[in-house]
Amino acid sequence: MLTVSTALRAVFAGLCLLAAGLAAAPALAEDGYELWLRYRPATHARAVTELVAAAATPAQAAARAELLRGLAGMSGHRPPLSDTVTRTGAVIVGTAASSPVVARLRLDTADLGREGYLIRSVVVDGYAATIIAANEDIGALYGAFHFLRLLQTGQTLDDLDVLEAPKVQLRVLDHWDNLDRFVERGYAGASIWDWHKLPDWRDPRYTDYARANASVGINGAVLNNVNANALILAPMYLEKVAALADVFRPWGIRIYLSARFSAPIEIGGLQTADPLDPTVRRWWRDKADEIYRHVPDFGGFLVKANSEGQPGPQDYGRSHADGANMLAEALAAHGGVVMWRAFVYSNEQPDDRAKQAYSEFVPLDGKFRDNVLVQVKNGAIDFQPREPFHPLFGAMPRTPLMMEFQITKEYLGFATHLAYLGPLYEETLRADTRARGEGSTVAKVIDGSLHADNLPGGAPTGMAGVANIGADRNWSGSHFDQANWYAFGRLAWNPQLSSQAIAGDWVRMTFSNDSAFVRPVVDMMMASREAVVDYMTPLGLHHLMGRGHHYGPGPWIAGGPRADWTSVYYHRADEDGIGFDRSATGSDAVAQYALPVAQIFGDAERVPEKFLLWFHHLPWDHDTRSGRTLWHELVHRYTRGVDTVMRMRATWDGLKGHVDAERHAQVAAFLTIQHKEAHWWRDASIAYWQRINGLPLPPGETPPPRPLEYYESLEFPYAPGGG
Ligand code: GCU
Repeated sequence: MLTVSTALRAVFAGLCLLAAGLAAAPALAEDGYELWLRYRPATHARAVTELVAAAATPAQAAARAELLRGLAGMSGHRPPLSDTVTRTGAVIVGTAASSPVVARLRLDTADLGREGYLIRSVVVDGYAATIIAANEDIGALYGAFHFLRLLQTGQTLDDLDVLEAPKVQLRVLDHWDNLDRFVERGYAGASIWDWHKLPDWRDPRYTDYARANASVGINGAVLNNVNANALILAPMYLEKVAALADVFRPWGIRIYLSARFSAPIEIGGLQTADPLDPTVRRWWRDKADEIYRHVPDFGGFLVKANSEGQPGPQDYGRSHADGANMLAEALAAHGGVVMWRAFVYSNEQPDDRAKQAYSEFVPLDGKFRDNVLVQVKNGAIDFQPREPFHPLFGAMPRTPLMMEFQITKEYLGFATHLAYLGPLYEETLRADTRARGEGSTVAKVIDGSLHADNLPGGAPTGMAGVANIGADRNWSGSHFDQANWYAFGRLAWNPQLSSQAIAGDWVRMTFSNDSAFVRPVVDMMMASREAVVDYMTPLGLHHLMGRGHHYGPGPWIAGGPRADWTSVYYHRADEDGIGFDRSATGSDAVAQYALPVAQIFGDAERVPEKFLLWFHHLPWDHDTRSGRTLWHELVHRYTRGVDTVMRMRATWDGLKGHVDAERHAQVAAFLTIQHKEAHWWRDASIAYWQRINGLPLPPGETPPPRPLEYYESLEFPYAPGGG
């Protein structure tokens, strides 16, 4: 018979075994929910001895709570709160208005603006201390997160002198979330907005979402899909929107909504949505007033109009400017903006799809109201693994242009492929438009500095990222996809940052500060996007994915409702050659770039090889810079991409002891999927090109294991995220 004491002994022995097992493991199991805000023990956190922080407003309370949480996690004890500095190692956070200590120091905060902050080592009443000061509460909150990041990444608190202010005003996540919680191009589960339970149930996850965004400076969220449902503007939903706005407000996040252009008809009972019709204009003014009654700091509207079947001003013979200005007028009195998307192209237009946005929008330069931003995707087609920068950047000097990046990986392997997008963002931001001579980078268009003399003072600037966030515990569908959310935020704050440095911070905060781990993982991340380009769309190829869902290779896709939704439209391969001629002998899309850029892109000998087949149609035996023929170079790159993934797997396997088993295992499993799918992309693509060109493989290259028909026959009716 089991006595109580033997039972207790057994339990005790079990606990001991468990404890021993845990001690031996590198870290406790983690599911990724905490993102980069894990606040695990950090050497220098113990230097903090007390916290001087007010909590008189929700934003102040948020900063104080985050500091207490972070410091407690990193140092093992919650620092005492104090009104004054009483010992060495104090941290003071606040504004001159919220903190008598900050006021007394008379800091020069003129350059900080509303959201900036400084972090400085100071002496207060004879004690060495650290001050985090700002002009507004929100700046102090951003400063608090920066301070925590210093500790999380293993930096000391000695001699601090940080001064930060965002270079871009609107740093916004665009959620492509439908009201039924389906996320278009979402690979991380359902929408985190639980519309049915709102406004009464405010899921604590909303606060964690806001914390994560504030930690990287994101200050806006468009809650619903650009393919919008007008209902979001109906009273029932505005109450729900208001509840989310209340949760986000202390964290500096304003809410925006995607507005359906035909909403006056669909929910307003009008006969028309003509932007020049006085009843329509009145309807939008009343609607804006109503929204601001619910959400006094509402940010404004995002609009997809006359694009891919969405309604818009052209339905009434009006221009994009007419449409945008009507909405802008309705929002102006309240300080809201319109983010009007330039992602437009028409099937009826025989012209190269890559040229259409420029053709439609450049003539409208200078015709938009002051509170309109034209939101332009990074490239002219659609978030491909690699695209040259959009020709609109630099070409609309009298219009604020807002960047639109995609964080969700619609075209880069969904959630399972490890592809760090920092280098993609950086490549676009650093691209030189040459619009005003050398150094006219896309980043300077976005931050407003390139055309400051043409734009009205205080013209808005912005950067948007299509979110990769869903209800999955790890938020982004995979652990490494969190890095893309993180990198977007950091680059929106400062488009000049290095994606490698950002990756370093993220790895340290998300996994480990051990340099034996950080170095190989950052290297792996930095090579990862290039690997995807290699195995999916090498040498400037683009738009070769499966139809509709965009999962897997589909270079054979032809026919169907629209030519510009097929692959053959873009690769134009035949037995003689491959590539889209966008030079002067072809569609002449190159002419949309400033002359020095056009000259380079338009010349097959000078164009960067990464864009070769984007701009040129070339024979299969064209000599590339490696000395290989074009055909051999293509195959070489496909194989190189697969090999890089193989090395990524080996790197990750070798890092087992550095990460908790749970996250390690999932990343390893996803890398295995990626390896399999990289092979699939290579093999299917090579099989297809060989069918067209009849050429043998270069020596030493492994032939595709299956016939082309096999790859063509694969179907994925339930692939996630389909639009
Ligand atoms: C892509 C994407 C669509 C999306 C569209 C857009 O085409 O596949 O799902 O609606 O971009 O940006 O509007």
